[in-house]
Amino acid sequence: MARSGKATVIGAGFYGSTTAQRLAEYDIFDEVVMTDIRDGWSEGLALDMNSSRPIEGFETLVVGKTTTPDGQGYEVIADSSVVVVTAGVPRKPGMSRMDLLGVNAGIVRGVAENIAEYAPDAVVIVVSNPLDEMTTLAQIATGFPHERVMGQAGVLDTARFTWFVAEKLGLPVSAVKTLTLGSHGDTMVPVASACTVVIDGQEKLLADVLPQDEIDALVTRVRGGGAEVVALLKTGSAYYAPSAAAARMARAVATDSGATIPVCAWLTGQYGIADVYLGVEAKLGKTGVQQIVERSLSDTELAQLREAADAVKSKAADIASM
Ligand code: APR
Repeated sequence: MARSGKATVIGAGFYGSTTAQRLAEYDIFDEVVMTDIRDGWSEGLALDMNSSRPIEGFETLVVGKTTTPDGQGYEVIADSSVVVVTAGVPRKPGMSRMDLLGVNAGIVRGVAENIAEYAPDAVVIVVSNPLDEMTTLAQIATGFPHERVMGQAGVLDTARFTWFVAEKLGLPVSAVKTLTLGSHGDTMVPVASACTVVIDGQEKLLADVLPQDEIDALVTRVRGGGAEVVALLKTGSAYYAPSAAAARMARAVATDSGATIPVCAWLTGQYGIADVYLGVEAKLGKTGVQQIVERSLSDTELAQLREAADAVKSKAADIASM
């Protein structure tokens, strides 16, 4: 594929820099921009990443830029087709994602306002936590149409679920398909009918291969998948799988692929739910979320999805004022 366009990652910490590296190594963009408020940090990482190009064999130029919260330096993001927002504080052991709400809201609002000013046509992918709430806030602060602002969660939760099933059954990850909808956290909804494994060339429902209590234990592990990494690292949170997830979404947008991906998207009546950002499957393309893909859910799954929506909605008024 010919190289074209520009992708930007705001926040060049663990998550952001790894996302930028993945996007650059796809070798599909003319330019990948990375920004951070840490003086010289983005420039240093860009210098390092560009020096990896002769070894890895990609021509995408990586540009690093120090920015200020009030917008200095943001001209570098102009004309980005997609902007990934990773700016924010990660969890410490024992913290929930919701504990980050106050501090990350201030950061995400400021970043979003600068994106609206300097890259008014971009599609925005939010990853800062708490995810559903930060996505809601980014849409409000940019004023962008809802379909141009989405969050990353479902790709990651699904990937964790797939890996845990593959590990449990001793299968290659490519033989396992899973799906989670709902929010990125306690109200995540595993979709049993979409969870399958291929054993000896035959596709089977996960529920026909593992007893329910073992599936439940895996789902519980997925819900706490991020916290499990945080507890082991003791400082910082997960970034390899999260950055892979965000980069895939950005690629689907930039290449206008139309791929159906689980993302945090604005609902307008799908599943009987409206006016809330929630994890669902959606077709992604250059205008962002092109279509929410509804699948048939069991009554229990539908009830869990509505519960997840209510949980995010209950914070909506607070978020708008942050
Ligand atoms: N503009 C740009 N960058 C900012 C801003 C801002 N206003 N405020 C903070 N940053 C930068 C920090 O300087 C830091 O480099 O965001 C970066 C965050 O990086 P890390 O501390 O390494 O955190 P990371 O693991 O990358 O997580 C970032 O993603 O998964 C979520 O919960 C996590 O909200 C957190 C975010």
